[in-house]
Amino acid sequence: MDEKKVIEKAKIEISNAFNELETQLTSNTFVATERMTVVDVSLYSICGALVNLSIIKLSHFPAINRWYMTIDNNRNISSVAKNINGTIPDKFKRIRYVMKELLAEHKTALGKEVTVQGWVRTSRSAEKGQILFVELNDGSTVKSIQLVLNTNTIGFDSVSNSGGVGASLTATGTVVASPAKGQHIEIHVNEALVLGAVYGGDNGEISGKNYPMAKKAHSLEYLREIAHLRIRSKFFSSAMRVRNAMAYATHKFFYERKFVYVHTPLITGADCEGAGEQFAVTTLLPDHAKLSEIPKDAKGNVDFSKDFFGRRTCLTVSGQLNVETHACALSDVYTFGPTFRAEESHTSRHLAEFWMIEPEICFANLSDDMALAEDYVRFCAKYALENCADDLAYFEEEYPNGEKGLRSRLCNVVENEFARITYTEAVELLQKEIASGNALFERYPNWGDDLGSEHERYITEKIFKKPTIVINYPRGIKAFYMKLNDDNITVAAMDILVPKIGELIGGSQREDRLDVLETRCVESGMKPSDIWWYADLRRYGTVPHAGFGLGFERLIMFVTGLENIRDVIPFPRVPKNAEF
Ligand code: 4AD
Ligand code: MG
Repeated sequence: MDEKKVIEKAKIEISNAFNELETQLTSNTFVATERMTVVDVSLYSICGALVNLSIIKLSHFPAINRWYMTIDNNRNISSVAKNINGTIPDKFKRIRYVMKELLAEHKTALGKEVTVQGWVRTSRSAEKGQILFVELNDGSTVKSIQLVLNTNTIGFDSVSNSGGVGASLTATGTVVASPAKGQHIEIHVNEALVLGAVYGGDNGEISGKNYPMAKKAHSLEYLREIAHLRIRSKFFSSAMRVRNAMAYATHKFFYERKFVYVHTPLITGADCEGAGEQFAVTTLLPDHAKLSEIPKDAKGNVDFSKDFFGRRTCLTVSGQLNVETHACALSDVYTFGPTFRAEESHTSRHLAEFWMIEPEICFANLSDDMALAEDYVRFCAKYALENCADDLAYFEEEYPNGEKGLRSRLCNVVENEFARITYTEAVELLQKEIASGNALFERYPNWGDDLGSEHERYITEKIFKKPTIVINYPRGIKAFYMKLNDDNITVAAMDILVPKIGELIGGSQREDRLDVLETRCVESGMKPSDIWWYADLRRYGTVPHAGFGLGFERLIMFVTGLENIRDVIPFPRVPKNAEF
């Protein structure tokens, strides 16, 4: 038999063996018994090698896959096994237990000796100073772990004199069942080490006295003034974990749908939205620059040809124009990065620097765009419910101003289709509501005007009571790149409005006809020559395409129920405020 045939035969035999193993594991957790044995570990190791060699695919064997992942999750076994089958084991190891994992393993962890590290959330002594209860948190979960120290604990005195809340510690001890309410386990500490005490005394000595994040509840306004420390609170650490989960969910959603992630530039010469709300990027204004030193042209205007890029440039308001170039070759793409708008908006929904997710799909129209956006928002809501349970529970149950019914609202998003309505119908509906005395607005909703946030919120909160997609806006109020509808008076735009926030998403089908694009460009007060490269996409192999932008911070508000956009981004940038 030649070598090829031998390999083919071996592959068939392996495949047969795996089919048998699959049957075995369909009704059993492990191969030999209900507990993991050495048989599992050795088979796991072989299995890993066969996967590496692409001889088998775990996705073809759901039961084996489940079994394999169970063993793979045990880091000790998997790193040894990987060593055996020739791959380099992970080098990054923690001596500390990640608290979220320890709390999840609370049943099997009892009796184990573990090390945890983190910052003190609360500290109280009992029995005349003989016992110290410390709640330690490492940021992996909103929950803390209670440490119990007594005078036999090595390091007891230094922990007692560490300044309390905010001090950083390493503690090693035994996991025991906790008699206290609301926690399964606590750690009886054998040895503790203070890594950083809190130097908050009046003369800089160790003391919790002036630590700005001491235990009592602070207002969100106060916490914004100490943005470098506020992340140590339950509120902000929960918000940032949800933010992290939503970023991951975003990449997962698009990756699984075969979209390519494109990094569009932050510095640009184009004003995508044409709203003139850009921050200039220039080197013509060094520190202490004198007005007389700024280069001027013959007309006395600033001469940007002398600037760093040889032209006037700004921070981008949207990655869309750049991402469209990549869509028109890669078909389905998205960008996810910071965007900047110099709007003087002092609202709870506007930032001068915010993150935006902008997918762009080719061979697609407005309906495809709406479908994608709806799927994406639903995916995020579901992902948050499934993966941020503790943080959502904190916002709903523990945080005093949290949204009651947060999780059931998110369930509704997952289970119900979004409402859909045209702009014209929406305006008529609003006018009817006014006529029948149901609604009162600061501004009357005339056809042709942009919907104000009071109108948007009325539509989604009062009329439909769920996320609502409004389509086909008047051409006069929307950006030049949106596709002109056959009626010649509206464009194929869509906004997704959600309760409490208003606009979460803005998108459209793109104008793919060169002549119409150029007319619309002029109509919007721009020169076609300014966007020559963007217009080229319509010159060379134009395709119907569409996309949208979702404001990432508004998404975080949407899934957490938090009311101020400044509290869902680490360092908010708003007018007159960029301290940190
Ligand atoms: O509706 P906008 O302006 O759309 C665009 O920028 C398009 N280029 C998107 C595209 O089609 N690729 O902005 C999109 C979203 C809004 O719906 C809103 O959620 C968010 O970005 N947004 C802001 N978020 C926070 N602060 C601000 N100042 C925001 N301005 C817009
Ligand atoms: Mg918009």
